[in-house]
Amino acid sequence: MAAVLAIPNTLLALFIIFLTLIYFPATGVEAQPEAGGAEIQARHLPNGEVDALRQIAKQLGKNDWNFSANPCDGDPSWRTAIDPERPLFNNSLTCNCSFPNGECHVDSIILKGQNLSGVLPPDLGKLPYIKTFDLSRNYLSGTIPREWASTQLEYLYVTANRLSGPIPKELGNVTTLKRLILEANWFSGALPSELGYLINIENITLNSNNFTGELPMSLANLTKLTELRISSNSFMGKIPDFIENWRQLDKLEIQASGLEGPIPTSISSLDKLSELRISDLNGAGSVFPLIGNMTGLKKLMLRNCNISGQIPQDIAVLTNLNTL
Ligand SMILES: *[C@@H]1O[C@H](CO)[C@@H](O)[C@H](O)[C@H]1NC(C)=O
Ligand SMILES: *[C@@H]1O[C@H](CO)[C@@H](O)[C@H](O)[C@H]1NC(C)=O
Ligand SMILES: *[C@@H]1O[C@H](CO)[C@@H](O)[C@H](O)[C@H]1NC(C)=O
Ligand SMILES: *[C@@H]1O[C@H](CO)[C@@H](O)[C@H](O)[C@H]1NC(C)=O
Ligand SMILES: *[C@@H]1O[C@H](CO)[C@@H](O)[C@H](O)[C@H]1NC(C)=O
Ligand SMILES: *[C@@H]1O[C@H](CO)[C@@H](O)[C@H](O)[C@H]1NC(C)=O
Ligand SMILES: *[C@@H]1O[C@H](CO)[C@@H](O)[C@H](O)[C@H]1NC(C)=O
Ligand SMILES: *[C@@H]1O[C@H](CO)[C@@H](O)[C@H](O)[C@H]1NC(C)=O
Ligand SMILES: *[C@@H]1O[C@H](CO)[C@@H](O)[C@H](O)[C@H]1NC(C)=O
Ligand SMILES: *[C@@H]1O[C@H](CO)[C@@H](O)[C@H](O)[C@H]1NC(C)=O
Repeated sequence: MAAVLAIPNTLLALFIIFLTLIYFPATGVEAQPEAGGAEIQARHLPNGEVDALRQIAKQLGKNDWNFSANPCDGDPSWRTAIDPERPLFNNSLTCNCSFPNGECHVDSIILKGQNLSGVLPPDLGKLPYIKTFDLSRNYLSGTIPREWASTQLEYLYVTANRLSGPIPKELGNVTTLKRLILEANWFSGALPSELGYLINIENITLNSNNFTGELPMSLANLTKLTELRISSNSFMGKIPDFIENWRQLDKLEIQASGLEGPIPTSISSLDKLSELRISDLNGAGSVFPLIGNMTGLKKLMLRNCNISGQIPQDIAVLTNLNTL
């Protein structure tokens, strides 16, 4: 009796294996099914993205990712626990596994303070779903790859590296970008007018680089900007009148940027500002800007701007002002 039943059971098992192969072809890295194979909850990262991660690791000089473990499963080499002794260190890759059939895609890569000494990885363009890329505080060199044009990045942080060269015009294709943080590098050259296509951008920080040239007119298109910092650069020309387009601006910092005065009177329309810092303007002198409508203003710094004339009465209505 037992021998007779054994045959169909074996066939059934083979059939299940066959179905499994149909459902999960071209296996990339997958979690091992639970013992007994009761539930196959694969968090499947496509082969293309695993290969891209290998290339990205090479390009960055990141040697400790464990490719025997599924990048999406929280292995410590892919996602290191918080260590209060190393507040500036962060090692964290996350996946979004809410795609149909349990398919995963890399959603964010954060590699902060890891002494990486490679280059920015052109192969990031092969992670089509990545939204956050944070490489702050490393020793990366080279330029921003043109290949990134095909990404849908939203948050890009490369603060404090040794990156150089101009911002490639292809970055203007990444219209999903919300934050572009390039602070404290060796970037140079003029800003490409294509940055004007980044209509979703909220936060641009270019402080402490060597950008040159005038601010392109197209930046007037960036009407969702809430923070702009362009201090410590070598820009040329006047602070443009079109800053009045940046109606959502909350923080504006133009210190020792290279730009010249005068402070345009159109600045008065930025009535959502909470922090305004302008310093070290060459060129023509300014009158004190009319700031009476900036009712949320908390910090105001206007240093070495060759301001003459009177301080207007309307400063008295700014009840939130705590630093002048
Ligand atoms: C890499 O991951 C595999 C699979 O989880 C594990 O067996 C191995 O010990 C890991 N290697 C290191 C160096 O952590
Ligand atoms: C790394 O940053 C992410 C996103 O900000 C955060 O969720 C995570 O806890 C951080 N990890 C460490 C080790 O600090
Ligand atoms: C994950 O991807 C799904 C499918 O595209 C999407 O609906 C969801 O918002 C994403 N989740 C996160 C946290 O981004
Ligand atoms: C980076 O290098 C410094 C100096 O050698 C060292 O103290 C630190 O632990 C290194 N950080 C990491 C994450 O390797
Ligand atoms: C960037 O966008 C322009 C049009 O806006 C398009 O012609 C070009 O092919 C795009 N480049 C890349 C590399 O995607
Ligand atoms: C800026 O917007 C204007 C119209 O609002 C448009 O014609 C122009 O192409 C845009 N420029 C850029 C670089 O996005
Ligand atoms: C802008 O970026 C800076 C630097 O990363 C951050 O501190 C700030 O919270 C960001 N602001 C917004 C509105 O995203
Ligand atoms: C910045 O760029 C200008 C023009 O290319 C150059 O003359 C200057 O030496 C650079 N400054 C620094 C600090 O690199
Ligand atoms: C402040 O706003 C009012 C009402 O919109 C406007 O009439 C006035 O000209 C503004 N003042 C300044 C200094 O911009
Ligand atoms: C300050 O501005 C006045 C005009 O308002 C100009 O005559 C003078 O040269 C400027 N001074 C400096 C040091 O730039």
